[in-house]
Amino acid sequence: MANVVVVGAQWGDEGKGKIVDWLSERADVICRFQGGHNAGHTLVIDGTVYKLHALPSGVVRGGKLSVIGNGVVLDPWHLLGEIETIRKQGVEITPETLMIAENTPLILPFHGELDRAREEAASTGTKIGTTGRGIGPAYEDKVGRRVIRVADLADDATLEARVDRALQHHNPLRKGLGVDEIDRDALIAQLKEIAPKILEYAAPAWKVLNEKRKAGNRILFEGAQGALLDIDFGTYPFVTSSNVIAGQAATGVGMGPGAIDYVLGIVKAYTTRVGEGPFPSELFDADGDRLGTRGHEFGTTTGRKRRCGWFDAALVRQTCAISGINGICLTKLDVLDGFETLKICVAYDLDGKRLDYLPTAADEQARCKPIYEELEGWSESTEGARSWADLPAAAIKYVRRVEELIECPVALLSTSPERDDTILVTDPFAD
Ligand code: GDP
Ligand code: IMO
Ligand code: MG
Repeated sequence: MANVVVVGAQWGDEGKGKIVDWLSERADVICRFQGGHNAGHTLVIDGTVYKLHALPSGVVRGGKLSVIGNGVVLDPWHLLGEIETIRKQGVEITPETLMIAENTPLILPFHGELDRAREEAASTGTKIGTTGRGIGPAYEDKVGRRVIRVADLADDATLEARVDRALQHHNPLRKGLGVDEIDRDALIAQLKEIAPKILEYAAPAWKVLNEKRKAGNRILFEGAQGALLDIDFGTYPFVTSSNVIAGQAATGVGMGPGAIDYVLGIVKAYTTRVGEGPFPSELFDADGDRLGTRGHEFGTTTGRKRRCGWFDAALVRQTCAISGINGICLTKLDVLDGFETLKICVAYDLDGKRLDYLPTAADEQARCKPIYEELEGWSESTEGARSWADLPAAAIKYVRRVEELIECPVALLSTSPERDDTILVTDPFAD
């Protein structure tokens, strides 16, 4: 199989970055197809830590083409800063190794300001707990046909007209929120200053990608966030503002659905969530603290503490279906070492009725109580295990039960943050 999509199957932070980096050895091109620098993907290679937000996780390998697709919203100042940081770590980034789709919408400073102003103004219960990076407002402008896109940076008159169009919407909005109007000339000057630095990476990515595919190149699509943060299928309104599920990979770069041969879902061996919103298997006890401490569950982007809970098989069964997941990578199995007993949520109790999926209505989601199955834990260490043979019997039993419950096979297992502490069961790229 030629092309693989990697998507998160929970609430994000499943370990997508590590696995995209690991798989990128087998790929020629790595593309981001949605989200922005709200994502935080951590890679650990021989002890060196790389934190990526806007750059695709294949960038560290060298010799690959990394693409930021049109489905992404891109903060150009952030990107230039991230390129510098990663370059300082010894990674080569040039227009030969990084391409930005010309039709990618830009996140501008007023998007972040609006995002944060709204969150500050929101009362308890209505706050989303966003990353404050302007993701939602930028996507709103894209759909509202007033966003500035990468290609607009190439022509001064077009750029100025686009800025005016955006300000026509944003200045009255800011006035209503009690925020200063945007300084048009200063913004245009700022944009003109960075234009050449961004444009050197700009290209009709859809064309290049389709040509690469025809030439037999292998493409790896890197999702951000996770299916439960999807704008349509997530726990709305506590979601991000893009489609994050596998179907988005095609539209987010400009390829047909037939270009996708395999969908790999990344699934943490337990559950975490950062930000507000329902979370049926959330723990508020010592077990939850233990997961958070052992798993170092702090956000890569905002440093916030992630909420932790038991593995929710009902949710992952649902997201495997929605993303058409062919196989999963179960990550952070090592974090479960040493628990005497493990619990897996298999269904919900909603007002006395058993439900095997998460309902859509927000009030019903909030009332769903987890129904657990208990499994025996293991005392041995699985940290750094690189083969099935290194896993204790109880850990294998846990993995097998997860597969049964989510109705999807395990293709890969991850047992530490390090690139090579990964167990390959089925190669997603294999024909
Ligand atoms: P992403 O957003 O899906 O790429 O995930 P993040 O990078 O935000 O969060 C996953 C965290 O877990 C990172 O700090 C990784 O280094 C780490 N990680 C990934 N896989 C494993 C694993 O198998 N075991 C452990 N202990 N940590 C892991
Ligand atoms: P990666 O790619 C976890 C969450 C935020 C918030 C909601 C909306 O690292 O898995 P936004 O800023 O997108 O408008 O915030 O989505 N969120 C993430 N949670 N991992 C992420 O990305 C996330 N990106 C956004 O915490 O609840
Ligand atoms: Mg993350």
